[in-house]
Amino acid sequence: MRASKMDRILILVVLAALMTTVAAQDPEIVDEIWPEVKPVGRTARLNCTVANKLNHVVTWEHMDTNQIISLDESIDLSYNPIEGGQRKYEVQKRGPDNRVTYMLIIRRLRQQDAGRYRCYVKIQALDFTKWPSKIGSLTVQVAPSIRPGETTTVLVVDQLSNSNLTCAATGIPAPNITWTRSDGGKLPTGGAQFRGAVLPLLNTTVKMGGVYRCVADNNIKPPAQHLAEVLVFNAPTVRVVQDSVGQAQNRRFYAKLECITQGYPVPTVRWERIVSGGRSPINDDDKFDFNKQTTDNQNLKAGEQWYTLKVKNVQANDYTDYFCIATNTKGASQATITMFETTECQGPNCPSLPSSKAAEVKVSLLAMATTALLQYVVIASDRR
Ligand SMILES: *[C@@H]1O[C@H](CO)[C@@H](O)[C@H](O)[C@H]1NC(C)=O
Ligand SMILES: *[C@@H]1O[C@H](CO)[C@@H](O)[C@H](O)[C@H]1NC(C)=O
Ligand SMILES: *[C@@H]1O[C@H](CO)[C@@H](O)[C@H](O)[C@H]1NC(C)=O
Ligand SMILES: *[C@@H]1O[C@H](CO)[C@@H](O)[C@H](O)[C@H]1NC(C)=O
Repeated sequence: MRASKMDRILILVVLAALMTTVAAQDPEIVDEIWPEVKPVGRTARLNCTVANKLNHVVTWEHMDTNQIISLDESIDLSYNPIEGGQRKYEVQKRGPDNRVTYMLIIRRLRQQDAGRYRCYVKIQALDFTKWPSKIGSLTVQVAPSIRPGETTTVLVVDQLSNSNLTCAATGIPAPNITWTRSDGGKLPTGGAQFRGAVLPLLNTTVKMGGVYRCVADNNIKPPAQHLAEVLVFNAPTVRVVQDSVGQAQNRRFYAKLECITQGYPVPTVRWERIVSGGRSPINDDDKFDFNKQTTDNQNLKAGEQWYTLKVKNVQANDYTDYFCIATNTKGASQATITMFETTECQGPNCPSLPSSKAAEVKVSLLAMATTALLQYVVIASDRR
């Protein structure tokens, strides 16, 4: 009994020693497979370095799709398209036989190429759980893009209400989102910039109305941007460009009255004036030209509209008070412009007059001389 027990122990020791020797000769993946990070469209290279490879087979597998890609240097995929003159997948063997690297090359990266890649060495004699194996990761970077459905484009809000401007963006890595006002002004949160996908608008004021810009950036070019407009319900306000306008009468000159309105919904505007002590509506007709300035005016703030009233052929009874009246569902407002008489024509469209009497005399003398000369030439040519 004793002897046989000793024998068994001896056999176990010998077996263990044998196994260690065998294990030492087995292939081994010696380095870590370093993670690869590359933008869409570029080429990724994952390196699996094997010692004692012998005649065992080095396999690359895309774990996320359970797809075997290669066996040693041969591609095991049924579909390995040529794109731009080169195969999508390739395996290159490098280094000496006792320490050989199988480099998996993946070209024209797409988002779905990202994930975990496993390199393993198939050893027939061993159970697959004992095969040497290491995992590397591939990150495919993607430039940011805005998700339109989840991003605010127009926000219509009541004063003093609370709301959010949301900028949803995708990209790998997840982009940083920055809000600014497109006119460079201060944000409701204070400061000129706000970091975060959701810009809160608290206790909304009319001044918070306007265009906001969000930029999504993850250092992969190009960044994405989006504009959002905030419209704040408010009763109209009216301001005038000049509160009094002069013009000379009876000489077919016109006078231009201008007012600037603001409000949401966009107010409708009408004009009135005082006629024999009472207010009288003004209609767009032979006497009056009523216009909304459509060209973008740099002097206008967000939501402002510029209106003009042209009073044609100014007469004595046109010198009175005019009202620019703006109305919307939230209220009404008006501003007054007074028209007064001047002796000379006013404004940019007046007939140009010589600047001084002296110049006038010189010009007329010259004109007389020219006329005389012309007459002489004409007479002379007639006589021929
Ligand atoms: C793999 O090896 C190649 C060649 O040495 C190298 O260019 C590449 O960057 C390596 N890949 C990684 C992920 O380190
Ligand atoms: C705005 O977003 C925050 C979270 O970012 C949320 O707690 C809040 O309820 C939102 N406010 C409104 C008015 O939707
Ligand atoms: C919002 O306005 C109300 C009333 O004006 C005020 O009591 C409250 O403190 C304000 N809240 C914030 C967050 O500013
Ligand atoms: C986001 O901004 C932080 C701070 O500026 C920066 O460290 C980080 O790299 C940025 N992230 C991306 C994806 O660009």
